[in-house]
Amino acid sequence: MTALPTPPGDADRPRAAGRRVTVRAAAKVNLHLGVGAPRPDGFHPLVTVYQAVGLYDDVTVSPAEAWSVTVSGSVDLASVPRGADAVAGNLAVRAGRALAAHHGLRDRAAAIHLDKGIPVAGGMAGGSADAAAALVALDRLWSLGTPDADLLGLAARLGSDVPFSLLGGTALGTGRGELVEPVEDAGSWWWVAVPSGQGLATPSVYRRFDDLVPGAPAAPAHPAALLRALSAGDPVALAAALRNDLQAPALDLRPDLAATFEAGLDAGALAALLSGSGPTVLLLAEDAAHARRVAAGLLDRGVGAVLVMPAPVAGAHVLPDGEPGE
Ligand code: C5P
Repeated sequence: MTALPTPPGDADRPRAAGRRVTVRAAAKVNLHLGVGAPRPDGFHPLVTVYQAVGLYDDVTVSPAEAWSVTVSGSVDLASVPRGADAVAGNLAVRAGRALAAHHGLRDRAAAIHLDKGIPVAGGMAGGSADAAAALVALDRLWSLGTPDADLLGLAARLGSDVPFSLLGGTALGTGRGELVEPVEDAGSWWWVAVPSGQGLATPSVYRRFDDLVPGAPAAPAHPAALLRALSAGDPVALAAALRNDLQAPALDLRPDLAATFEAGLDAGALAALLSGSGPTVLLLAEDAAHARRVAAGLLDRGVGAVLVMPAPVAGAHVLPDGEPGE
């Protein structure tokens, strides 16, 4: 069974002493995203390799009579839903309600603040990170001590990427992406991400995949070469093994993204890859210095607002008291 990461000394900390808890959760990239033909439930079978990257949402929860969500952050927040319906539909609130229901806690609520560093609707699992962080934060705030297996089960019902947001690191994802298992990763990887001004809805990318690939296999291929590159920590081998079956359908919907791929390769990246269902474009660098050169090269080519990110990083974890959220 998959065990979630426990920060050193975390088990010894007194639980729920304070009235607010902040949890940090990372964005993800898919190094391999193999997609099969849709299942009877409409979801697509996946074989994917997730990696958590150093770009974060911080979720702060505090006790309240009714659910509420406030949002701040360094990314474009215009497309974050607002108003009463948005609170009910927010994945972090749905996570909180599911956790309360799991423990038979009726009428339990909280105020949730999302401080977003992960691009919204960018294919980097920002909403999933918020849901994972809310589960961990409310588990702590309410002193529930929910077993890891139960948290992973709740996460899987909230969304295909939510279990990985809990786990972090580098992991193989199967099922519809919700079954996660850590894989060996000896690398210290550096990515440059180019977010897009306009988001891309995941269901529309999967629908375009169905149009473009009518004969997709029931079982996507196993990423053997990619797993070897990860365990060798070899960026050139990793660059050659990257694969995303949603890239062609996303580019079909957003042909303008091709220019970002070109600019990244022209700026010297080892490889260019669509992040998840897009539209964020990822560029693989050899090391930190190379990542900075690729970022500078993109700026020279008129591609602004790029993000330089190390990987892999940890899954959702409680921040020490007094860090963000004060
Ligand atoms: O699981 P999640 O809520 O993140 O999925 C969002 C949408 O993406 C689904 O409603 C579905 O349209 C599509 N999806 C899919 N197959 C997957 C994961 C997601 O078709 N394995």
